[in-house]
Amino acid sequence: MYDGCEVRRVNVQNDLAVLAARIRSATRLTILTGAGVSAASGVPTFRGQDGLWRQHRAEDLATPEAFGRNPRLVWEWYAWRRETIAGCRPNAAHEVIAAWSQRAGSRTVTQNVDDLHARAGTERLVRLHGSIWELSCWDGCANGATPWRDERVPLAEMPPRCPHCGGLARPAVVWFGESLRGEDVRAALQATACDVFLTVGTSAIVYPAAGLVHEARRQGAFTAEINLEATPASSGVDVAIHGGAETILPRVAELV
Ligand code: OAD
Repeated sequence: MYDGCEVRRVNVQNDLAVLAARIRSATRLTILTGAGVSAASGVPTFRGQDGLWRQHRAEDLATPEAFGRNPRLVWEWYAWRRETIAGCRPNAAHEVIAAWSQRAGSRTVTQNVDDLHARAGTERLVRLHGSIWELSCWDGCANGATPWRDERVPLAEMPPRCPHCGGLARPAVVWFGESLRGEDVRAALQATACDVFLTVGTSAIVYPAAGLVHEARRQGAFTAEINLEATPASSGVDVAIHGGAETILPRVAELV
């Protein structure tokens, strides 16, 4: 006879096998990721225990208004995050996603700005919220509108300046109240036309990213979620697996 724990274990094993079979036979696989994928690498999440938005108000640090009011304060926060991320390496979840990205027809959409997917070698990657390693011109000069890469830790000057016009530079990330880049939104929407849509390590509350799984399901995709806990997406997916992405994804990969 099974006790409750064993029943749960059997269910998880079944879900892993079902998901693996779907991924094996999928021609088009799309994976959406959030901060939870990088948690095991040591990158703080936003809303979890010790999450960034538990200690700071997004309105003070991640809006154009906040930057306009106090660019140095915002830059100090981003400089601290860059330092933290510089000491982090991709984990087993990034590695599995990078390996799957080698399959033709596979796409990865991330909300993470840490670039750990890129460092793990993920191909066809859409970075919906930009990269913390890129800067653009705050003053709006034409050349500085295209983000440039600056991986220096610490930054050469604080706050950093635009190399084109000498005005203020800003992190090339999407802040609250800002629009996502049109080409990224288009690519993410295109990626919802898939056979399997897997959402991993995201609280599924920030749109438009949070809407992608519903769109994929509407178009007939098999949908699955991997997360430590239930999210608003859980009840709408075919399979919701509770656990760390860094342990669950390698287990699924073994079965694929
Ligand atoms: P959140 O911090 O909102 O959510 C992280 C999710 O990951 C939570 O649901 C956790 O339960 C889960 N999680 C934590 N550790 C995990 C692990 N090891 N394995 C699997 N899941 C784990 O982060 P996001 O959903 O990415 O936007 O947040 C979305 C956006 O809100 C961010 O891109 C950022 C933020 O404000 C902007 O800054 C514009």
